[in-house]
Amino acid sequence: MSKDIIIAIDGFSGCGKSSTAKAVAHALGYTYLDSGAMYRAVTLYFIRHQVDLQDEKLIQNALDHIHITFSPQKSGQGNDTYLNGENVEEEIRQMPVSQKVSQVSAIPAVRSAMVAQQRQLGAAKRVVMDGRDIGTNVFPQAELKIFMTANAGIRAQRRQKELLEQGTKVGLIDITRNLEERDIIDSTRHENPLKKAADAVEIDTSYLKFQEQVDKVLEMARNIIFQA
Ligand code: DC
Repeated sequence: MSKDIIIAIDGFSGCGKSSTAKAVAHALGYTYLDSGAMYRAVTLYFIRHQVDLQDEKLIQNALDHIHITFSPQKSGQGNDTYLNGENVEEEIRQMPVSQKVSQVSAIPAVRSAMVAQQRQLGAAKRVVMDGRDIGTNVFPQAELKIFMTANAGIRAQRRQKELLEQGTKVGLIDITRNLEERDIIDSTRHENPLKKAADAVEIDTSYLKFQEQVDKVLEMARNIIFQA
């Protein structure tokens, strides 16, 4: 006998949540959902339309014009993120968006619009969703909650490698500063800050090989999915 579950993976920026979530979803035949990509797509829209982050009316009006969708990538296990029909997957990973996304995602109207969509996307279960407040707020009933951590230097190196693979060279100092700034804003914001859910399992990925962290999560997931 097996059951369908929701797996929530939360944690600091750059500790391997997305790649782990992707691989876990692939192994289980589940859908991978990147909640951070949604906040990034909103941020890109706000940058392009120069939305004043203090103006609640403008923000609400902008949110009414934002439609975010995902489509599986041809190669690999991930999704491409679409903003009003345009594939923005690469652009949302670049520094201009990274530098603004924590401010944008701290705005209550932005959060409630995104959380509503995330709940819809996960309503049928069989999803692995990664983010900051998935286990505490979006799916507090998730059957498996993981809280990932890793030391800041290692996280910055990993993010630098990812950006290089996309053809963008950014210095370690700038990346470390951005990760640390986002950690502070994400974990101190008023609305649903990043924090470990009481029933989440913490995994420090600093010295784990990628496959080890995937296997740890998979083992826990399978124990729940296939429990008698
Ligand atoms: O996972 P990421 O680094 O791509 O997320 C980008 C930003 O989006 C992150 O700095 C904070 C915000 N975010 C959030 O507030 N809540 C989530 N569930 C996911 C991301």
